[in-house]
Amino acid sequence: MDRIAQYNQARWKALAKSDALFTRPELDLTDESAKELVNSDERFGNVSEKRVLCLAGGGGQQSAAFALLGANVTVFDISEEQLERDQAAAGHYDLEIKTVRGDMRDLSAFENDSFDIVHHPYALNFVPDLLDVVTEVSRVLKVGGSYQVNFANPFLMGVRQDDWNGEGYVIKEPYLKNAEITYADQDWVYKGADREKIPQPIEYRHILSDLINGLIESGFVIKKLSDNESISPDLTSEPGTWDHFVAFAPPWLSVLGVYRPDLKF
Ligand SMILES: C[S@@+](CC[C@H](N)C(=O)[O-])C[C@H]1O[C@@H](n2cnc3c(N)ncnc32)[C@H](O)[C@@H]1O
Repeated sequence: MDRIAQYNQARWKALAKSDALFTRPELDLTDESAKELVNSDERFGNVSEKRVLCLAGGGGQQSAAFALLGANVTVFDISEEQLERDQAAAGHYDLEIKTVRGDMRDLSAFENDSFDIVHHPYALNFVPDLLDVVTEVSRVLKVGGSYQVNFANPFLMGVRQDDWNGEGYVIKEPYLKNAEITYADQDWVYKGADREKIPQPIEYRHILSDLINGLIESGFVIKKLSDNESISPDLTSEPGTWDHFVAFAPPWLSVLGVYRPDLKF
């Protein structure tokens, strides 16, 4: 395991210990809210019996939702503590969820064509070279399978709501591909936990052309791009607050790709 993987493993251990936002399992899901969480616009069609990989998706949220909808779920994550939350959620709903620990840049635990869907919540920016991951995803997906990936808006990385200068939010970092960026977590990640003990996120800027072209060159057709999921922009809120900040630019984007290496353009 390299320095990057070790750092993230330790960070997510600390986050899970503090019960931070993305480490809290969803234990009140109904069929309806499960669908809302992972398949609200039926982007994956009927997921029942589908083989779903929740990639870097530990914590017991999306895995439980897919499993409740009848999918055959595997969670792959670097954090033992996050995977424990998936097992806790599985036990809570009396469902089976398979958990595998590892680094998303190496999916050799899985055969080619193992999955119909790869669901990849915010995590791609934790590694410097996105192709390390995307190439592996294309290998483990069947032809025609779906890949949903969430990533940092590359134009906004390193900018925070407290960068409001009275007129706008100041961009301070150059637009450099794969550049390492360290910043403080948002307050809403913690909800009162002792954040002093938690290592800050270290992320890497994936420029937009690398992301889109990386997907296309790995055999994906882009089905949908979203830039407003899970945020509530509010221009009437106080400048310098999260809701005001996200009204200026979305902090993350997501792409839904379909693996079709057979299509040549
Ligand atoms: C923001 S959380 C996303 C998962 C969460 N289920 C959610 O609700 O969005 C990011 C996850 O990525 C995992 N992670 C970080 N680096 C990783 C790596 N190199 N390989 C696999 N998982 C990684 C963390 O352990 C964490 O569970």
